[in-house]
Amino acid sequence: MYKDRDCGELRAADVGKQVNLAGWVHRRRDHGGLIFLDLRDRSGLVQVVVNPELAPDAHAASEAVRNEWVLHVIGEVTRRPAGTENPSVATGEVEVVATQVEVLNPSKTPPFYVNEDTDVDEYLRLKHRHLYLRRPRMQANLMLRHRVVKFIRDFLDQRGFMEIETPILIKSTPEGARDYLVPSRLYPGKFFALPQSPQQLKQLLMVAGYERYFQIARCFRDEDLRADRQPEFTQLDLEMSFVEESDVLDLIEELYVDLVAAVTPRKRVPRPFPHLTYADAMQRFGSDKPDLRFELELVDVSEFAASTGFQVFQQAVAEGGVVKGFAAPGCGAYTRKQMDELTAFATARGAKGLVTVALDGDGQAPEALDQEHVRSTVSRFFAISEIRELARSMAAKGGDLLLLSAGDAKTVNTVLGALRDEMGSRLNLADPDYLAFAFVEDFPLVDWNEAEGRWDSVHHPFTSPKPEEMALLDSDPGSVRARAYDLVCNGFELGGGSIRIHERAVQEKIFEVLGYSQKDTVERFGHLLEAFEYGAPPHGGIAMGIDRLTMLLAEADSLREVIAFPKSQSTTDLLFGAPDSVPASQLRELGLDVTPEPVAESQRPAQP
Ligand code: AMO
Repeated sequence: MYKDRDCGELRAADVGKQVNLAGWVHRRRDHGGLIFLDLRDRSGLVQVVVNPELAPDAHAASEAVRNEWVLHVIGEVTRRPAGTENPSVATGEVEVVATQVEVLNPSKTPPFYVNEDTDVDEYLRLKHRHLYLRRPRMQANLMLRHRVVKFIRDFLDQRGFMEIETPILIKSTPEGARDYLVPSRLYPGKFFALPQSPQQLKQLLMVAGYERYFQIARCFRDEDLRADRQPEFTQLDLEMSFVEESDVLDLIEELYVDLVAAVTPRKRVPRPFPHLTYADAMQRFGSDKPDLRFELELVDVSEFAASTGFQVFQQAVAEGGVVKGFAAPGCGAYTRKQMDELTAFATARGAKGLVTVALDGDGQAPEALDQEHVRSTVSRFFAISEIRELARSMAAKGGDLLLLSAGDAKTVNTVLGALRDEMGSRLNLADPDYLAFAFVEDFPLVDWNEAEGRWDSVHHPFTSPKPEEMALLDSDPGSVRARAYDLVCNGFELGGGSIRIHERAVQEKIFEVLGYSQKDTVERFGHLLEAFEYGAPPHGGIAMGIDRLTMLLAEADSLREVIAFPKSQSTTDLLFGAPDSVPASQLRELGLDVTPEPVAESQRPAQP
């Protein structure tokens, strides 16, 4: 071994010891005589002092050294001279006085600073991933990820779960995205699909009698990327036999509470996790993954709004829509420009407009508000009594800003849900050290796909409907609720699952509602339907996004900060240069021919 100690672990108790260190030069300072090298390895860094009088050879070797060179250093741990300690690093009380410095490998000047946590262009970050991953923050993120996964494995092992690997080369397993396909050489024209999740496989394991399965599973989905989506990502996938909703959710709550306490103990996790229905979440927060760190609850003022003199409100309600809003506390002094920004924010999310009513004043009750307290582009449409009533219903007071949106319920919820998050972050209500977990339940089973004129599963086709609502599957499928649940936290969906269908007839009925022909059903899902005929136990489970959870725990703003080798925003691998073309001979072998440009260049996402 080149090293017998790690740089970051040296402390005052080590003073006087001879140490062998190896690592990268984090920073080098030449004080015209003494050379100071911050030597970094995975554990942290320590200051090495090279004195030309004590160690002339080491000093000569250190003269050429630059950042990111790899060194082997032998020396003695000493206490730093009084007044030169550095309390901001863990090794700040000591330094290593070098007796030998050996250059193991020089380094070119990196294309960005490794030793500073400054912003780096996304392209460079991914292209030179090995350098970006050297940054201490990235190393901490990946260490955190390792500890998350290790904790999950130990926790589930103690509770009788078995980790079982499932295939990557498989047939389409629908989760609502496009499949990644792998052509078969032996069967030209036929394809494997990469799993969007191991959903059907884990259900088959339940039929096979494994009772408690989990897997840290890689999933592949060809879908539009966002900061919280990657085309290949990792789930904690889990399935249990002979369970009901509460069995799965209680286990997950215990896992997440214990996990956070173990890996990020400074974070607050209030217990018990609240359970919200989907309908309630949409009504109160405009989102099925509400950020519950703050209130700013939406209020439905449709009935009153329709009775005001404001035609936009009247019309929205007459057309079957809604008028909802919320009060942003202390934002009554927002300037015209700030309010215009919020309106632009709303219209970018599909609203026709946003009604902003700024209430000047200092905390007075709605009854005490006068016309001169009100600033709004639409104030002329409202009597002051109407403004007071709106303020009262939104629990607003002088000094607050009312934000109202009118239209169809879906758009209004989307717009106000996003605006609620925006105001939460502007008002600093979204404390990253507070993890507000909650379960959302009672999702609708299916959702009408306007473009294709058919019903889609909200979750996936294997989710059980509520048994008492089965009869509605023919007459009113849209009103049937599913035995499905999500775990949400701070505005993110961290996981989702359900109690499954385990009877062939029910599963066939769902495929029929989803518009699959009998032939299609048998071709695509015959294996599962058949399995259900051989004593399938009642079962249910859930899958949790490991990348998303780690992102939250690490307080990172993108999944790319917690994945070692992620894809770019445009689904490319910039390090390897993938996807890439392959030699014609390889295509021939697969029986494939490439027609030019199936996706026009103009339709591709911009680089990176
Ligand atoms: P679902 O599709 O809801 O359920 O996925 C479960 C969780 O996986 C994470 N996730 C993602 N993370 C990063 N990038 C993506 N593209 C991505 N897509 C999903 C989310 C999500 O909550 N088979 C079902 C689970 C089940 O029913 O047991 C499933 O995959 O955190």
